[in-house]
Amino acid sequence: MLKSPSDVVFNIKSLIGMQFDDCHVQEMREKVSFRIIEGPRGEAWVEIHGMKLSPEEITSTIFSRLKDVVLMDKFYDTLKVVISVPAFFSVEQREAIKSAGERAGLDVLNIIDEPKAAALSSTTIKEGNVVVFGMGSGSYSVSILHMSGTSIKTIAQTGGHTVGGDMFDDILVDYFVKQIMELYSVDIRGDRFAMMTLVQAAEEAKVELSSQSKVTVSLPYLTASTEGAVDLDCSISRPEFEKLVHKLVKMIEDECQSILKEADFSKKDISEVVLVGGMTKVPKIQKMISKVFGKQPSTRVKPEEAVVIGSAIQAALIV
Ligand SMILES: Nc1ncnc2c1ncn2[C@@H]1O[C@H](COP(=O)(O)OP(=O)(O)OP(=O)(O)O)[C@@H](O)[C@H]1O
Ligand SMILES: [Mg+2]
Repeated sequence: MLKSPSDVVFNIKSLIGMQFDDCHVQEMREKVSFRIIEGPRGEAWVEIHGMKLSPEEITSTIFSRLKDVVLMDKFYDTLKVVISVPAFFSVEQREAIKSAGERAGLDVLNIIDEPKAAALSSTTIKEGNVVVFGMGSGSYSVSILHMSGTSIKTIAQTGGHTVGGDMFDDILVDYFVKQIMELYSVDIRGDRFAMMTLVQAAEEAKVELSSQSKVTVSLPYLTASTEGAVDLDCSISRPEFEKLVHKLVKMIEDECQSILKEADFSKKDISEVVLVGGMTKVPKIQKMISKVFGKQPSTRVKPEEAVVIGSAIQAALIV
C-alpha cells in the first residue's frame, strides 16, 4: 500500500450501489489514493491500471476468494449464504451486494442488517430491548432493537459514513503534523509518502492506546527539510488522546441520546448493550456508551465476530 497507493482499493463497501455524483462518493474521491470514476450508468466505479471495474465486480471477487478460503464448494454444489450489510444501506446497495454474491456463484439466502446479526449472536435476553452500537473504520451505527426470541424488530436507528475510526486517526495525524511543524517548521502535508506513513502510525498508536496508558511514536527520517532529516519522536498518553477526540466522542454521545429520545425510551428500558466493530475497543467510547445506556456492554461475543456469528445463526435458522 505504501509502495503503490493508487493500486490498492479499499472500503469498496462505501461505493457499492452508489451514484458517482453522490456527495459521499465525491468526498471519498478527495480522500482515497485509488481512482473513483463514473460508470456507464452514472454509478461510482474504480479504475486501476486503465481497468474500469464496478464495485460489484470487486465485491464478487472478494466473495469468490472467501469461497476458496472456506473450501466449502468442495463439499456443496452451491454455497448458501447470508450476507450482512450496514443497517443504513439503501435498497440499491442491498441489491448490488446480492448481485455481487450471485455473480460469485453464491446462493444468497438473505441480506441481514449488521445490528440484527450482532444482536442474534450476542444477546442473552429472550424478550426486551437491545442497543447495538457499531463503529468500524469508516462508519458507525446505533440501533435500538426489540428482541422476542429470534424475531427482531428495529425500533430506532441512526448511523452512516459520517463518523468512523479514520476520523480518530485523522485527529492524531493533525497532532503529529503540528508537533513536526513546531519542532522543524516543516509542513509535511505536501509529502504524500510521509503522510501515508503518518496515517498508519496514527492508527497503530490509537489501537495501542486502548490497552496502554501511553505510546511512543518513533518515525526516523519521515521526510527531509533544507536542514536535513525530519524525524517524528513523540509520546502521547491516553488522557491526551481522549482530550483530542473529546468533541468527536461528544458528537457520537449526542447521537446516542437522540436515538433514545426518538424511541421514547429511557436507560431503564434497555435490557442489554452489544458492541460491534474495532472502534468499540476504545475505552472512551465504551465509557460513553455505558453512561448513555446505563449498562456495561455484553462481553459474550467479541465485537469483531458478533456480526459474522449472527449471520451464520440466521443462515442456520433459514436452512
Ligand atoms: N484495539 C483497538 N483499539 C482501537 N481501535 C481499534 C482497535 N482494533 C481495531 N480498531 C479500529 O477499528 C477500525 C476497524 O474496525 P472494523 O474492522 O470493525 O471496521 P471495518 O469493518 O473495516 O469498517 P466499516 O464497518 O466502517 O466499514 C479501525 O479504525 C481500527 O483502527
Ligand atoms: Mg464493518
